[in-house]
Parts: sequence; structure tokens; C-alpha cells
Amino acid sequence: MPKVTFIHRDKSIQTVEFEQGKLEYLGHGLPESFLDVAMNLGIHLEHACGGSCACTTCHLIIRSGMEKLSDMEDNEADRLDTAWELTTSSRLGCQAVIKGDVVAEFPMYTRNYVQEGGEIQLGAPKVKAKASEEEEVRS
Ligand code: FES
Repeated sequence: MPKVTFIHRDKSIQTVEFEQGKLEYLGHGLPESFLDVAMNLGIHLEHACGGSCACTTCHLIIRSGMEKLSDMEDNEADRLDTAWELTTSSRLGCQAVIKGDVVAEFPMYTRNYVQEGGEIQLGAPKVKAKASEEEEVRS
């Protein structure tokens, strides 16, 4: 039964265990990936693209157990190249499938260009733009 330890940004530690082949697949990331385990066991792991290897919000730094993870595919390596705070121990939580005990740390920052509701934000949020327009009208 793999033991998965998450080291959060505030340095708090959460350890969970799961029985291989027994997790309910919730459709996010690869089955038994960090994301799948996190979603099943109530741990918040950002996943702006839904676990389809199209962002880097699920970036994790593996502190031990790298050999207990699935091999990295080219699409994961290509996507990871764009991650903030990339290290030689980095993996995408939605792509790295867990096969044994591992310890993973959340990086301090992630790049998330997706806002709630699926809208891509490239500049100031629309709400703020509207607010400043209203302010201009009032003054
Ligand atoms: S959730 Fe987007 S790449 Fe993993």
C-alpha cells in the first residue's frame, strides 16, 4: 500500500495511503497519479487543465521515491519546461503515477493563467476593468 506524503507550502505535512487498483477514478489526470490520489483523499492539488498535461499547476517536487513513479513521457517533459521553479526532481502531479512510497513538496509558486469559470486571463480581470470605468464616470 503506497504511502504518499505531501509537504505543503506552509511546510505542513500530510501523509495518505491508498490501495493500488482500489481508488475510484475521478477522471482527472492518470489513474493513481498524485492528482488522482489527492482528489480521492481530500488533498487540494491545483489542476487548471483538468489533469490533461496542458498546464503546470500540478507541479510537484519529489523529495524521495522518484524511482517509485512512472517514467516521464515526452509530453510531460515538454510541459514541465514551462513550470515555475523547475528542478531536476520536478514532476507533474497529474502525469506521475505512484507505485510506492513517495514524498512530494509543493513548489512555492505555480503559473495559472486560467481563472475560475475557465476564462483565460492575460491582463487585468474584467471585473476590475469595469470598476475602474465606473470610477472614471463618477469622477
Ligand atoms: S493539471 Fe494541468 S498539467 Fe497537470
